[in-house]
Amino acid sequence: MTRITLASPDDFEGFRAAVRRLIAAGAPPESVVWQVAGADDDLLGNDAAVLANGPELRVAKAFPDLARRVICNRDPERFALLHRALVALQSRPKLLEDSADPLVRRLDMLAKAVGRDVHKMRAFVRFREVPDETGERFAAWFEPEHHIVRLNSGFFIRRFTTMRFSILTPGLCLHWDGETLSYTPGATRADVPDGDPIEATWKTYYANIFNPARLKIDAMTSEMPKKYWKNLPEAELIPDLIAGAARRTRSMIDASQADAATGPVATLRAEASACQRCALWRPATQTVFSEGPGDAVLMLVGEQPGDQEDLAGRPFVGPAGQLLDGALAEAGIDRARAYVTNAVKHFKFEQRGKRRIHAKPGIAEIDACHWWLDAELRAVAPKVVVALGATAARALTGKAVTISRERGRGTARPDGSELWITVHPSFLLRIEDPAAAALERQRFIADLRAIAARVAALA
Ligand code: URA
Repeated sequence: MTRITLASPDDFEGFRAAVRRLIAAGAPPESVVWQVAGADDDLLGNDAAVLANGPELRVAKAFPDLARRVICNRDPERFALLHRALVALQSRPKLLEDSADPLVRRLDMLAKAVGRDVHKMRAFVRFREVPDETGERFAAWFEPEHHIVRLNSGFFIRRFTTMRFSILTPGLCLHWDGETLSYTPGATRADVPDGDPIEATWKTYYANIFNPARLKIDAMTSEMPKKYWKNLPEAELIPDLIAGAARRTRSMIDASQADAATGPVATLRAEASACQRCALWRPATQTVFSEGPGDAVLMLVGEQPGDQEDLAGRPFVGPAGQLLDGALAEAGIDRARAYVTNAVKHFKFEQRGKRRIHAKPGIAEIDACHWWLDAELRAVAPKVVVALGATAARALTGKAVTISRERGRGTARPDGSELWITVHPSFLLRIEDPAAAALERQRFIADLRAIAARVAALA
């Protein structure tokens, strides 16, 4: 029996060094006991040092990425499973492509569970202000299922670069002082003080973005297990919001006969949630896909999600969305019957202090995301497609477009649908002169009325 002791439960480098030696020494996976220093009751010592250094192993390109995630799973068998996979990869370099192989399936499931936990941490960490003698400082309490704190640290640092913060968890605590990342051992919930003004702001925001038609209590509790609720300030609003949801939903039900929550769009949405076609996925909270019926006659295409859309995971819920909702209503278009999406599915921004400032997507990002837009156009097959602004027009026509020259008329697209180009609602929000803003809003509504007429004619 060979005993290997790793420094921490997610000690990828330690695992990699040890497994190379084990394979070089020909130690069969079933003869190895893996343990974590300080975590296993029955520490048996460490034989890693007596094994000769091993050569670099031949591994499939996808293996290190997979292993980094699997290592973070709480499953005590993870090290042995990875060891087995590495041994097998020496003679079967394409093993990871065989998704029917039971070992590959198991590793995949472990990695996916870690991926889900990473996503939950990103979505459910809520900071509270805990100023100290040197000024503003934030702290959050979170209870991950797996050992994901280190794996997730880059995301929080990129997102909150200029903030000083700590994320406390039972297993490991992360600290960022604006320049340096450090870790300390696990903490308890009592180490993070309760409520502060940020919570009030957050609750208001949550109540505003709550969509009653999306309320599926079973799905909600599986996506946001109750164990997280106690740490979310907004959770105390949920009973009231649920109580009011039935009433608010009734008016939306008729409109969503073929909800995009099912069918081909749902498949696309699930696939896009892991999209890394360009670098925008990294700092963003999540992919913001689309909303609306999967067989809508009308498709509205915006530019990219903004700050609020990025947090809510829904398109057009922020200020531009509110302006759009009002204009659509005035033009006689029911938003719930339209398929609403964006040319780019991740929020691109520049961090300035605590604020995330919208940054225009580049051509490479628009082109990378075109893959999804194209798939949505094929899946939904709308009769009328509306480009809101220059980015959407570029994505839908493949070239730069002067909106003032194109607006007010439809043109045929190669798939037989009709393309209408108009301004982006954010353009209206940027106009400072009230009279000019009102005039432009009327022009926008006139465009939408013409579009409504085409939708009625073609439906
Ligand atoms: N602007 C967009 O183009 N899309 C959104 O979803 C929000 C703002």
